[in-house]
Amino acid sequence: MELVPLTSPEEVARVAADIVEELVLRRPDAVLGLATGSTPLPTYRALIRRHEQGSGPAWDGVRTFNLDEYVGLPAGHEQSYLATIRRELTDPLGIDPARVHGPDPSQAGLPTAGERYEAEIAAAGGVDLQVLGIGTNGHLAFNEQGSSLGSPTRIKTLTAQTRSDNARFFGSFEAVPLHVLTQGIGTILRARHLVLIATGAAKADAVAAAVEGPVSASCPASVLQLHPHATVLVDAAAASGLERLDYYAEVYAAKPSWQRH
Ligand code: F6R
Repeated sequence: MELVPLTSPEEVARVAADIVEELVLRRPDAVLGLATGSTPLPTYRALIRRHEQGSGPAWDGVRTFNLDEYVGLPAGHEQSYLATIRRELTDPLGIDPARVHGPDPSQAGLPTAGERYEAEIAAAGGVDLQVLGIGTNGHLAFNEQGSSLGSPTRIKTLTAQTRSDNARFFGSFEAVPLHVLTQGIGTILRARHLVLIATGAAKADAVAAAVEGPVSASCPASVLQLHPHATVLVDAAAASGLERLDYYAEVYAAKPSWQRH
């Protein structure tokens, strides 16, 4: 795992956008895994800004797979993660909506939604780069504490902590759906490159547990320690709980110029 200690959320966004663009330049038909939530928004805005300025790569060959989706929202609800990712990233980049995927939360399809999503990802050749956030409780996608480390895409029940963290998007705790569909931890581990981004002091304990704690279902994000190519981008506030921060900074400063993230 590479821990990249950065200063501000803006710097995290710049480096994360560089990593995504570098892949899409190299592989115009890249398959991107996308997180929603607040943390990736500055990264997505940086990508859109560069695209509008004409400095970004061509996006029309890219396919995207969301990490997760709420269950029980009316179709087209503005907080659905499919609507969110189209609004915040893929529509402004001009990616055809047919290339933008998410788990199917329709009531009738729920029993097979996980299996079907796994098959769609596999048919696309798997995810090249998975953008990840982290919950204040260490959740990864919507794999809450205690999730099986080998889990596939499936239905999960959100914790009260996550519903309360996400109430800001819905106006109240009660309005946050109880159920979600989420890529499993096993699904996420199959992506070829994981890029976890964390900003702000509220994430400091979760980042420390994920990076320096034991690999455990009690901190689902700790599975990044098992992945052969995981990059963790943190600002100073999110890094503040790390014991080996000085060492990560030394390693990053001494990184050979030929070595990519
Ligand atoms: C979103 C997702 C979640 C978020 C996490 C952090 O697709 O999978 O795991 O990444 O809840 O959310 P923010 O970034 O809003 O703090």
